[in-house]
Parts: sequence; C-alpha cells; structure tokens
Amino acid sequence: MVINLDISFKYISLSLLLYAHIMHAMALWPGGGSTRYYEFKVQTMNITKLCKTNKIVTINQMLPGPVVYAQEDDRVIVKVTNETPHNATVHWHGVRQILSCWSDGPSYITQCPIQSGQTFTYEFSLVKQKGTLMWHAHFSWLRATVYGAIVIYPKPGVSYPFKLPYEEHIIILGEYWTKDVVKLEQAVVTGGGVPPPADAFTINGHPGPNYHCSNNDAYKIDVVPGKTYLLRLISATLNTESFFAIADHNITIVEADGDYTKPFTTDRVMLGPGQTLNVLITANQHIGRYSMAMGPYISAKNVSFQNLTSLAYFNYLGCLPNSLAVEANLPRFNDNLAATTVMDGLKSLNSGNVPKEIDTDLFFTIGLNVEKCQSSNPKKNCQGNNGGVMAASINNISFTRPNVSVLQAYYSKITGLFTEDFPGMPLKLYDFVNGAPNTAPNNTQSLNGTRTKVLEYGTRVQLILQDTGTVTTENHPIHLHGYSFYVVGYGSGNYDPQSSNFNLADPPYMNTIGVPVGGWAAIRFVADNPGVWFMHCHLEIHLTWGLSTVFIVKNGKGPLETLPHPPADLPRC
Ligand code: C2O
Repeated sequence: MVINLDISFKYISLSLLLYAHIMHAMALWPGGGSTRYYEFKVQTMNITKLCKTNKIVTINQMLPGPVVYAQEDDRVIVKVTNETPHNATVHWHGVRQILSCWSDGPSYITQCPIQSGQTFTYEFSLVKQKGTLMWHAHFSWLRATVYGAIVIYPKPGVSYPFKLPYEEHIIILGEYWTKDVVKLEQAVVTGGGVPPPADAFTINGHPGPNYHCSNNDAYKIDVVPGKTYLLRLISATLNTESFFAIADHNITIVEADGDYTKPFTTDRVMLGPGQTLNVLITANQHIGRYSMAMGPYISAKNVSFQNLTSLAYFNYLGCLPNSLAVEANLPRFNDNLAATTVMDGLKSLNSGNVPKEIDTDLFFTIGLNVEKCQSSNPKKNCQGNNGGVMAASINNISFTRPNVSVLQAYYSKITGLFTEDFPGMPLKLYDFVNGAPNTAPNNTQSLNGTRTKVLEYGTRVQLILQDTGTVTTENHPIHLHGYSFYVVGYGSGNYDPQSSNFNLADPPYMNTIGVPVGGWAAIRFVADNPGVWFMHCHLEIHLTWGLSTVFIVKNGKGPLETLPHPPADLPRC
C-alpha cells in the first residue's frame, strides 16, 4: 500500500480523456482542480479466512476496496455498476457534498439503492477538503466488506503542515464475519435481539496470528530505521469502536476526520467507525519487529464481543526474518479514560470559523430502547432484553426508513413519506444518564416515524448530543452527512449549560463524534449546504435499530445556494 503518486495520477488522467464527455456538468458545481475518474464494480468474491470460505461483496474484487486518490478541490466521478444480486449504494463518508446531495449515497435517504445490473455515477467536488476520508456501502450491513480509503492530497504547490514523511501507508481497521452480512442483519431484525460479535477484527483485511488459521494472514509494513511514516488510520468496523497502538512507538496525530490538528503525541488512539486519523510514527527503536494492534473499545454494559486482538507488523528492515514481535499495549476494552484522552488532545491546527452566535439550539438524546413484544411467537421474534425487541432512538424517536428516498420525496414534493416534526428537544425530561427507566420492557418504549428536522439555509446550529442510560450508557459515534462540525465541548453526566466550558478557539472539525459514555458532546455548524442529510450512530446495529434522524436544509437565495436537479441516472426504487 505504498502510494505511488505518479502512477495513480497518470492512470487517472488517462481515464479522464476517455470520460471527458461527462464533464459538461462541471460548471454547475463549485471547485476547480482536476477531475479524477474511477470505475467501481460491485462484485461478489469467494474469500477464505479463518479456514472458512465465504462469499463476500466487494468493489472490484478487493478487500479493502480501491483507494480514491485526489487533491483538494478536485472533482471526483465514480461510476458504480452493481454486478451482485444485492442492492447497493456507496457513501463518501466525510465528503461535504457541496450542492451534490444526490451523490451522498445513503439508501432511502438520498437515493434508492442501485439494483442488480444497474449503474449510477457519483459526482462531487472535494471543496476545501484534504487528508484521509473513507467510502463505504450504505445498504444493509454491506459495508462490512465494501469499504476503502479516500486520500486527498494538498493542492499542487502546497505542502503538509508537518515534515514530509518518508512514506505513507493506509491502515484500515475492520470487522469480519464468516457469514453473509445481509442475511445476518435480517436475522437480527427478525429475532429482535442483539447481533453476534464479529468472527475477527482485521487490519487491512487481515486478522493476524491471534486468530486460528491466520498466522500468515497478517499485514505488515517494512520500515527503514530512523524514518518517519504517515499512517492514514481509518476505522471501517461495523459494530465496535476500537483502540489502536504500536508496540514501543509513539503516535503523533496530525489530522482527524480530514482536517489538520495541532500535533498531539500519545501511545494509543481510539477510533469509532467512520473516524479517520492521520498519524506520524518515527521508526526510532531498536531494529526489530513491532506489533500494530487493534482491539475493542466496549463502553456498554453486558454485551458479548470479540476479544481477540488483530495484529499487524511494523517491521524494521534488517531484523531477523523470524524474530518475535514486541507486544503492543492496548488499553483494556472498557478503558473510558483512554478514549477521552484522545479527544482531549484534538485541537484544530488553525482557528476555524466556529459560529460564535447561534440561531438554533438543539438537544438530542441518543440511546437504546426495548420495545414491547408484539409477536405471537416471542421465542422467535422477541429475543431482546426481558423478552422485548431491541431498538434505538434520538429524542426517543426511532427512525423508520421510507421505501422511496427522503430526498426524492422532498424534491418532488411527494407527500406522506416523511414528516417535518422531529423535535428539537426530548419530549420528556428526566435524569438522562442516571435516572433513566432501566426496567425494560416497561418504560423504554420509543415512538417511531420518518420525522425530519427542517433548517433554513444559513442557520447557525448548536446541537447537544446527550447519551442516555436507557438499557445501557454507551459511547455512540454520531456521524452527520454533508457537513463537518466543530466539537466545541463534551463531558460526562448530564449536559449543564452553566458548568460546561466550550472551546470556541480551536475545536476539532469532525464528521463523526464519539459522544462519551454516559455523557454529552456539543457540536456547531452552519447549515449552508442544501439537501437531505442523514445523521446517525455509526455503530451499524444502532442504525438498524433506528438511531438516526434527517436534517432537511432548504435552498438559499444566492446563486450557488440551490440544490441542482437530480442526475438522469438516479436509481429508481
Ligand atoms: Cu459512514 Cu451514513 O455513514
């Protein structure tokens, strides 16, 4: 995975010529740079891992999938053809999709899935974006194997705000099941209970030697003593947050979620699914073999999880071929402090445009629910806590995805598919963290519906995300589509405006925030990108259970403040 800029750019410009005919649409969008063209084929592939052969869905038969390389402000065009029997979509996680909401990718939110045999071309500009982001499928649990990196270099003539690393490597953390994940999701929904843990954690698709049959299925990077490496860390896990560490080596974070940070040095990091970190590692130890380790961060109570560490190697050139790897020190699976100390270190490199004044103040509780069993066959359908059905919600409203995309319904004014009454506050106030009604199934019933929150163009929003103790408190990685937001504060317990201390000077600018377990986070953004934007917990099972909502941002009045009409090849339901 060493990046060879020359080759990838040559390849891209060649394809550019071939596809120049699509570029007439460019004038509609902001951005300048070059255009990068990619072709993604959604294909099934047989793969043998953990001594089991399994049919997985991939892009171009690769796990992880192909890397999308570009430079800041470039236009990216990806033609996706679905050659599998499943539905599929691709979401460009962290891409702000300025005026290109149609290309965002979440199924039933901005588009209907690309059906078997169909093609859809995603087009967007990386306006003022740089660093590492990711792409992944956004249909059912397909993203367990359909994921890859987006690498955005600075513009020509602009350098990194840190010393040029000797080499760059992409490290993608994943969770792997030896089963069909679409069927697995269906089985979990039908059963009403909790999902089984993954069969393995993986680093760049490899479980490593802690897993059976995987001694040689381990990823490794060869390093030159004394050199500094840039690792583009991406969490593509499905249902688990994770810790990452390298034995005996410090990790210096220089970028988070595609935005530069002040350099922050630590010995381990925590990434929620969807989060990315660019980190610098200097090979300054004795010549040898060092483990790069990934293990679970589990903040919820009473859940079963995969507890084997995935290992890869940071391998010094000149070390003996069979030398034992130095073990990495990962935090314990429930080390909440280790998770927050990473957050504590994240500060934007430059002071950004943090909104100082607020027009709309929102307060969203996030948590789990247990719904009353409605089935005549509880054994089969009500395997949740105390014989109920597991669910999850924001402001106690569990989101139901419609069968036509919300964006199409909104754009074409189709009525009856969604409502505009998502509440800006919880309907009931209580001691969210400690006093939550834990006696399922009595008091943890949610409401449900396809309720959206409408924002006028340009609204300056503050949103407090408050974890609840219903069922269990838990760190939830909350992701907002179409925007990055400033994380101006976070803390434990119930949010208290009196005692909370906001950082309006240099807060990190992120697209996914791990709301602390039993705590809260405050984010701010300006709603200046019209469209329909999904916000959800990036633990996939919580998304399945309904921990999501939708913001509709209206068009503005100015010339580049209106969402263009839908592309002609937008998939039909
Ligand atoms: Cu990376 Cu809607 O997700």
